[in-house]
Amino acid sequence: MCGIVGYIGPGQAAPILIQGLQKLEYRGYDSAGVAVLDGDLITIKKAKGRLSVLSQKTDGGRNLSGNIGIGHTRWATHGAPSDENSHPHVSQGGHIAVVHNGIIENYKKLKESLMAKGYAFLSDTDTEVISHLLDYYYCGNMIDALVKAINRLEGSYALGVISSYHPGEMFAVRKDSPLIVGLGEDRNYIASDIPAVLEHTRKVYLLEDKEIVWFKGNEVKIFDIDKQEVQKDIFHVTWDAGAAEKGGFEHFMLKEIYEQPSVIRDTISPRIRDGKVYLDDLKMTDEDIAKLSRIYVVGCGSAYHVGVVGKYVIEDMVRISVSAELASEFRYRKPILTPDDLVVVISQSGETADTLAAMREAKRLGCRVLAIVNVVGSSVAREADDVIYTWAGPEIAVATTKAYSAQLQVLYLLSLYLADKKATITEAEHKKIVAELLSIPDKVSAILKDVTLLQEYAASHYNAKDVFFLGRGLDYCLALEGSLKLKEISYIHSEAYAAGELKHGTISLIEEGTIVTALATQRELFEKMLSNIKEVSSRGAVVFAVAMAGDTDIASEADTVYYIPKTLPVLAPALTIVPLQIFAYYMAVNKACDVDKPRNLAKSVTVE
Ligand code: G6P
Repeated sequence: MCGIVGYIGPGQAAPILIQGLQKLEYRGYDSAGVAVLDGDLITIKKAKGRLSVLSQKTDGGRNLSGNIGIGHTRWATHGAPSDENSHPHVSQGGHIAVVHNGIIENYKKLKESLMAKGYAFLSDTDTEVISHLLDYYYCGNMIDALVKAINRLEGSYALGVISSYHPGEMFAVRKDSPLIVGLGEDRNYIASDIPAVLEHTRKVYLLEDKEIVWFKGNEVKIFDIDKQEVQKDIFHVTWDAGAAEKGGFEHFMLKEIYEQPSVIRDTISPRIRDGKVYLDDLKMTDEDIAKLSRIYVVGCGSAYHVGVVGKYVIEDMVRISVSAELASEFRYRKPILTPDDLVVVISQSGETADTLAAMREAKRLGCRVLAIVNVVGSSVAREADDVIYTWAGPEIAVATTKAYSAQLQVLYLLSLYLADKKATITEAEHKKIVAELLSIPDKVSAILKDVTLLQEYAASHYNAKDVFFLGRGLDYCLALEGSLKLKEISYIHSEAYAAGELKHGTISLIEEGTIVTALATQRELFEKMLSNIKEVSSRGAVVFAVAMAGDTDIASEADTVYYIPKTLPVLAPALTIVPLQIFAYYMAVNKACDVDKPRNLAKSVTVE
């Protein structure tokens, strides 16, 4: 959601802040601002809208002097997007400037008490209470003021702070919102995410909740909430800067779609030896696995859709009851959990507020939590009992593609691992699935080699008002994700239905020219899907079918057929998703949509 960048060093701060904020644009925002410190003078510039507006106002930051600064891209929560509500926010008197990511849950109470003490508020934000609170507690020592203010704050925050009382210094702290420290030779940074600092440094500190960072000159010191200095290990970023850039593709989304063969390979290969799955990082013992009575797979958006696939695959392979759960529902519906249940949390960012809260609820109820996460050192990764990382690298496009595919692979690995431990599939079956899994990267590459059919189909159908996705079994799970992808980026209304539900209402929506994407990769359900296709096409639907190579009977029923390479039905989702992503992508491109940053959406939803 919001993005934070901070800089302290010998260079001019503002241009570096604006460049850093550009790298965080993918997080979603509606306004931007910077504050720079020149001696004891704080200058602030903010602007509603794209970062380019702020950049124009400040000549790319060049007309703001000062070597220390904090910058922010805001995603409106409290108060509409406006110049006034944009960050940084300053304390009364203008001595302390703050950028904030997160939500202060008790801000109303704090605001009332600060107003009673004479503080006047200039914005509708929750953030402004922080700057005034810091001013209220400030008695010559900013660390003391931060500790006192933090003790009053409820909710989540990552903060960057500069003050005219402290020329040559910068401060930062986080709780439940991401913030890292980038370490340069004679200059240092703060940022919501690594891509913002990657062009300057690969050495970072991953901050724990309530750790306070103090920067002075080129010195960095970290204190805990008791003001004791903390020694931290440096985290070395191994992925290269190019991984956070477009690399010649027109959009990050397309680049990320094309990265899928290597992402899938990176995610599965290190975990497969001699035809068997090994999850070396798991701390779960064989005894824990033997006791497992039920699995809940929890996530939001596409991660939830991976959970739905997980329900079908794990139940099939491991013969254990699995429930796929939307984190936002799960966290509040008083789930009935026992210590023998396993909660599998799926999240690309590892910072999604609802997913994090659902995980904490599961832990509170005594459950073991296994996280499937992409961002190393993220909150979910740090708090889970077990973590299996998806090695997808940074994902910049708001609509997930490669992270979804990597999550799917981890679910296959987990299913195979549990099935092996619980002896619910034979060794021969295990080996057969593993061998096929290892061929998935090449089959995805084969799909990506020729996307002409998908491009042409999108070019002639992008004016569609509605697109329906139908499927049975695992194809239904893929229909959910295919439909979400399309609506997210092309703004075309789309719904996914279990094909067996057609007669219970959906069919009334079918009329002459309605576009139906029918997924029919599951051999056992193939004939039934053919009947469903007949039902919709006889009512005028234009059917685009996805089937497995060889299942050519479908050609006489559908208007257009896209064949995925042959694979085991259980693994078909890993291939089916690719043409659905490409279809959505070209529909959006034809409509000239902002593919990487769809309207109203954010990459990392760190508020509920
Ligand atoms: C947002 C993103 C989706 C993502 C979802 C969950 O809605 O746009 O692509 O699936 O959040 O995010 P997470 O980081 O928890 O996987």
